[in-house]
Amino acid sequence: MLASIAKAVYGSGVIGTDASSWPLVATCSRGLEEVLGNELRALDVESVAPGRGMVGFSGDLSSVYNANLRLRTAMRVLIPLARGAVQSREDLYQLSSSVSWPELMTSDQSLVVEVAGRHRTFRNLNFAAQVVKDAVVDKIRAKDGRRPSVDRENPDIRLHLHVSERGITSLSLDSTGEPLSHRGYRPRGGPAPLSETLAAGILLLAGYDGSEPLLDPMCGTGTFAVEASLIATQTPPGLHRQFAFENWLSHRQTLLEEVTREARRGHRDAPQPIVARDRDQRAVRATQRNLKAAWMDRFVTTEVSDALDLTLPWESGGMIVANPPYGKRIGDVKRLGRFYRGFGDRLKQHATGATAWVLCGESQLAKQIGLRTSRRIQLFNGPIECRLMRFDLWEGEKERN
Ligand SMILES: C[S@@+](CC[C@H](N)C(=O)[O-])C[C@H]1O[C@@H](n2cnc3c(N)ncnc32)[C@H](O)[C@@H]1O
Repeated sequence: MLASIAKAVYGSGVIGTDASSWPLVATCSRGLEEVLGNELRALDVESVAPGRGMVGFSGDLSSVYNANLRLRTAMRVLIPLARGAVQSREDLYQLSSSVSWPELMTSDQSLVVEVAGRHRTFRNLNFAAQVVKDAVVDKIRAKDGRRPSVDRENPDIRLHLHVSERGITSLSLDSTGEPLSHRGYRPRGGPAPLSETLAAGILLLAGYDGSEPLLDPMCGTGTFAVEASLIATQTPPGLHRQFAFENWLSHRQTLLEEVTREARRGHRDAPQPIVARDRDQRAVRATQRNLKAAWMDRFVTTEVSDALDLTLPWESGGMIVANPPYGKRIGDVKRLGRFYRGFGDRLKQHATGATAWVLCGESQLAKQIGLRTSRRIQLFNGPIECRLMRFDLWEGEKERN
């Protein structure tokens, strides 16, 4: 496929169509670029370059498969096809026409164009998608007299267009399909669930690798518990889902099987306890269901318990990770203030030696915890700007902000 892409973008004369390494992009939510960069370095790909909401790298077809299967914090893996300044419909049509589409797809195949970003000319992003689709269809029809169809549900080829206010526009081939946060083990939805990629990113930012015990005292649907057990057992997060690249004509199933076998090779039992608690019985049941669906239930203990009665399930030390309710989604800021203060007190008195990481989307509430932060990291939970705060719960930690 990469050879066809090289030909499609540059023509056979400019870059060898047998190019073994190709510029690629993994997208992520803002704040996770460095951690995604580290994940990519561990995959042994080349030229890892974190940007804003993305990390550039280069690799071959097995890198594309590997990245989709193994990355915990990426949303999509894209193969850039064309990039340029676009101010009008005509500019976008020209840019889209610069790709030699017949190298990438036939008229028997279907496509979809997904658009992200903002652009003055394309306030209606569907219009931008339409222009790209027209360019693709015109080029393929000119070659074999027939046009490919559009299929929004299960297209053979997914194109991803990113537009920016300044007009810089990139058109990429999407190798992922449903974003990588959809691990495939649970239906979407539920009250205020944390995205899987953000939960994994928080754990990796916290340095979690399974070698110390972990407690989530407010587990909700269990996103931290599932992601922690996937990390601790060294299980690739993408094992239970499909990817857009599987619909490519030149998809190599044997290569995917080889890459999957290799990715599974590191699997082990979780070396340390993982405990998920919530005061709501229904939340604990949802966590159990999700753990089971992800084949991770035997590595996690679940309990109904109030965080205001928190004690460590082990003697001392370990890691606590929490996503308490915050005003913008559940409950309201005033009422929750007292809860945050009580939780901070409980951490201070009953979690000695542990390191706590708390994600909070409301700065007024974050202050109520009343413990000194040793690190603050800005993250985004969807559109909500959040702070991830680290508290080192040393013996005698009394200091308030
Ligand atoms: C924002 S949700 C957590 C979402 C979770 N991270 C997920 O991915 O689904 C907050 C959770 O805190 C729980 N909670 C609220 N007050 C609590 C308390 N005092 N003790 C334990 N859990 C509590 C709620 O039941 C809810 O499930």
